[in-house]
Amino acid sequence: MTADSDAARAIEPVLHPGGLALLDSLPPYDEQDVLRRSAALRAAGHSPELVSAVLTQSRLRARAAEKFGEFADSMLFTPDGLEQATRLPVAALHARRFQRAGVASVTDLGCGIGGDAMALAGLGLEVQAVDRDPVAVAVALLNLRSFPTATARQGTAEDHDPSASEGLWMDPARRVTSRGAGRRLHDPEDYSPPLSLVLDLARRLGADGDLGPLGAKLGPGIDRSALPAGTEVQWLSWHGQVLEATLWCGPLAGAGVHSSALVVDRGGAHRLERDETGIDDPVPGALGEHLYEPDGAVIRAGLIGRLAEDLGARTVDPTIAYLTADRRIDTPFARGYAVRDVMPFGIKRLITYLREHRLGVLEIKKRGTAVEPEELRRKLRPRRFGTGSATLILTRIDGEQSVIVASPHRDLPAEDLP
Ligand SMILES: C[S@@+](CC[C@H](N)C(=O)[O-])C[C@H]1O[C@@H](n2cnc3c(N)ncnc32)[C@H](O)[C@@H]1O
Repeated sequence: MTADSDAARAIEPVLHPGGLALLDSLPPYDEQDVLRRSAALRAAGHSPELVSAVLTQSRLRARAAEKFGEFADSMLFTPDGLEQATRLPVAALHARRFQRAGVASVTDLGCGIGGDAMALAGLGLEVQAVDRDPVAVAVALLNLRSFPTATARQGTAEDHDPSASEGLWMDPARRVTSRGAGRRLHDPEDYSPPLSLVLDLARRLGADGDLGPLGAKLGPGIDRSALPAGTEVQWLSWHGQVLEATLWCGPLAGAGVHSSALVVDRGGAHRLERDETGIDDPVPGALGEHLYEPDGAVIRAGLIGRLAEDLGARTVDPTIAYLTADRRIDTPFARGYAVRDVMPFGIKRLITYLREHRLGVLEIKKRGTAVEPEELRRKLRPRRFGTGSATLILTRIDGEQSVIVASPHRDLPAEDLP
């Protein structure tokens, strides 16, 4: 670890057994209590550096619970490392691919604080966690300490020898943290390491011109056509938010799968997939009794046509990702709404409607229109109309700006619906 690095200095005192023991002895982090706790630790004879380091780690552990659950309480973090780490349940889904493909040893190349490496090791796979950043390596080593099959060392993707393990996992850094305060990078050649190096490693890991067992986490905005044929790209959404697109090469790719969507919700992980031949776009048609808003992962994976087929649905406008059908079908791949009314968009008309129907609690959604939901809410001031609730969906129907008044299926028991 370089003595002149801020991150190194901030974490170094906790990497010693005494520092870690002190950190582990602290009560749950409480922002209101920091000054008092800091003074008490100083009065007990601990150095200012150690006190600052343990309180920082205590704060990061509290924040990390969202990604790592109870494991966070025995882990160390850097702020950037936590920000970039894969949440443990998602890392476990990645790890299972390696296990299912029979890949017994994996290098996590660019391991950060070791989020993905922990999940791989948790399945009993042999894991070499490698990062060019010595602070990340020190932290990953500590986070992997209870996994006998895992090690961590410093190294670079540029110098990596793919024959060191059967499989490779890569999660290139996609954020500019030094100058851009967390700004995300969209060109995969700006990732660190760049996509071209990831693909080169996949080729060198394979044999006879085939790509080897490599998985790589990419930004959800990745262009599928820029990635090789014969690989699977899986878009993953986590409780409605599209987090990543993962490139799966060689035996890690689903047989014949070109792209897939993995939608994780309270009910588990749900998968939809398509092959190279593509899927017909859904046909346009009249607005039915139900509207479906496909999950972002389904849209990005080019699976709207497949979802439409499954729902027996059509589009209200061929350029907009809303589907409509006459039946309610509950699916993890889309949010469903029962349509109550539809009208051309107009503020006066909408105000009259909301007043007549006493609708004051509004969720406002939009696709394919320039109207900004929050600006519209300011203009409507809906609270004055009553306590009834509705979802307003602003969109184009047959090229015309329209408002659909709807109720979310999740608020309606199935038997109340037409
Ligand atoms: C997004 S983070 C990895 C997070 C990790 N998967 C986790 O769940 O904790 C990317 C990591 O790649 C490392 N990195 C970037 N370029 C690298 C390179 N050329 N060689 C090795 N590591 C690199 C960075 O230091 C950073 O720790």
